[in-house]
Amino acid sequence: MFQGNLKGKDLITTQEWSFEDLESVLKLAGDMKKNPKNFSSTLQGKSLIMLFFNPSTRTRLSFEIGMTQLGGHAVYMDAEKAWIGKGSESIKDTASVMARYGDAISIRIFPNITDWQYGKSNEVVREFARWADIPVINMECDLFHPCQALADILTIKEKMGNLRGKKFVLSWAYHPRPLPVSVPNSALLIATRFGLDVTLLHPKGFELDEQIMSWARSNCEANGCNLEVSHNMEEAYRDADIVYVKAWGSLKYYGKPEEEKELRVNFRNWICNEDLMDLTNKNSIFMHCLPIRRNVEATDGVVDGPHSIIYDEAENRLHVQKAILSLVM
Ligand code: CP
Repeated sequence: MFQGNLKGKDLITTQEWSFEDLESVLKLAGDMKKNPKNFSSTLQGKSLIMLFFNPSTRTRLSFEIGMTQLGGHAVYMDAEKAWIGKGSESIKDTASVMARYGDAISIRIFPNITDWQYGKSNEVVREFARWADIPVINMECDLFHPCQALADILTIKEKMGNLRGKKFVLSWAYHPRPLPVSVPNSALLIATRFGLDVTLLHPKGFELDEQIMSWARSNCEANGCNLEVSHNMEEAYRDADIVYVKAWGSLKYYGKPEEEKELRVNFRNWICNEDLMDLTNKNSIFMHCLPIRRNVEATDGVVDGPHSIIYDEAENRLHVQKAILSLVM
């Protein structure tokens, strides 16, 4: 039984929430999924201000519809149409004013690949949290995507039941341009929090940040699970229970996409295909946060195939976010 109080708490990374906090989100998300009508006035009269510096399909829809289903209201703000996005108002002033109007703020921000500085967008989210005396929810920055991670672990629990001893392969995939590491960072952290045996699979040069790896190793020590790094697709896929595919950029070349391209073009063959999925366990699942480049990151045969649970995963964004909103607002 959850004893904690999450009212007013920011969600910037799942790593900063206790296991009990995370479990309380999953438990409530499950209840909300089963009986949505029981929660139709949970956030009556409350407003969420959603500030987007980047495009989105799932995040915007699931937060906005989630607020409606809870009896509240969501305000969509395109940062480009606000003074903050034009660079003419400070974070302090924007956040402080938002806090006078709304009951929570959610933010999506990651920079253009040409002016990428690792951790810079996360600092913006933290600066909002510093000045707003209402909860701030990270809808994806350059380091973390906590709502995606919670939807992912809810989906894995639904499909797998007991996670002990299950092999989770987090695989890099080719993509024509470098993408943020927020999803792989977050997937690695949540999987090790929940005791999955993780194989992090990527070509040399696409290592994740040492701080994230260190947290993941600590999670494993605390939870009695394993973390290994592999550069061999066949070996990693063999006997996998969960395959999570995602493209990400090389941290060595952040902000230098042309130089990074020289490295990444060597790995066009890093695509998840049916032959690789045949190496996995019979009831294995294929996951991707979406949007996916079909036939680049994974073949249509995999994306639409028997292992794929990508739409269940996307649906669970709605349920976990409704739970998060209800607990923090
Ligand atoms: N997975 C995810 O965050 O999707 P969107 O970019 O469409 O919001």
